[in-house]
Amino acid sequence: MADMIVPRHIAMIMDGNGRWAKKRLLPRSAGHKAGLDRFVEICDACGELGVEYLTVYAFSTENWNRAPEEVNALMELMSRGIVKYEPQLEKRNVRLKLLGDLERFEPKYREALIGVQERLSKNSGMVLSICLSYGGRQELVYAVNRLLKEGKTEITEADIDRTLYSAGNPDPDLVIRTSGEYRISNFLLWQSAYAEYYFTDVLWPDFDKKELLKAIESYSKRERRFGR
Ligand code: FPP
Repeated sequence: MADMIVPRHIAMIMDGNGRWAKKRLLPRSAGHKAGLDRFVEICDACGELGVEYLTVYAFSTENWNRAPEEVNALMELMSRGIVKYEPQLEKRNVRLKLLGDLERFEPKYREALIGVQERLSKNSGMVLSICLSYGGRQELVYAVNRLLKEGKTEITEADIDRTLYSAGNPDPDLVIRTSGEYRISNFLLWQSAYAEYYFTDVLWPDFDKKELLKAIESYSKRERRFGR
């Protein structure tokens, strides 16, 4: 599309892995594995398109309530996935940021993830933020508690911006949610105040580059007024 406007910051709720697996009579873990492969592909596509910031919702605070086997399988898959993908991220000059309460992770997973984050922190290309053990309300409470520790008795929006996990990232321009659910599910509550939303029935493991371009095309046609 000639007049395509590529959003500076795209955020994604990658939903539908379980249903994708169920449709194929596969275990849920197979859906998450397919979801990881898709994530890698979409991440590359965003880099190629010139997206400056990509933020993905990989594991919510609510996801801790899933069956322990599924939680474990997801932890294993995500940490192994990021470690395996590190050379590709490095080659593409991607900077990695992990947003969320990583303290809840088993040390072996936490250390692996933080290791990759540290090694990629010097890069200067697309900023990939992965939300892990993340919840928008929890993030706001975290920010306010940091400000209280600073001794603040009155705060500004800028104070919140700089103490959120996402500090330094601009607000998302486009938030995509797959799998036909029309909810925010506690994702980037503060940051999405003026974001455009794009919902699609496509399940996350089927969300390919063509689908991404459809979302960007839809975004390109919208006029954003920021309340003006
Ligand atoms: C939601 O689908 C998806 C998740 C809870 C996991 C998302 C994780 C990935 C796509 C792997 C990405 C990995 C990295 C390293 C970023 P669901 O299980 O809720 O699906 P359902 O609603 O169909 O049951």
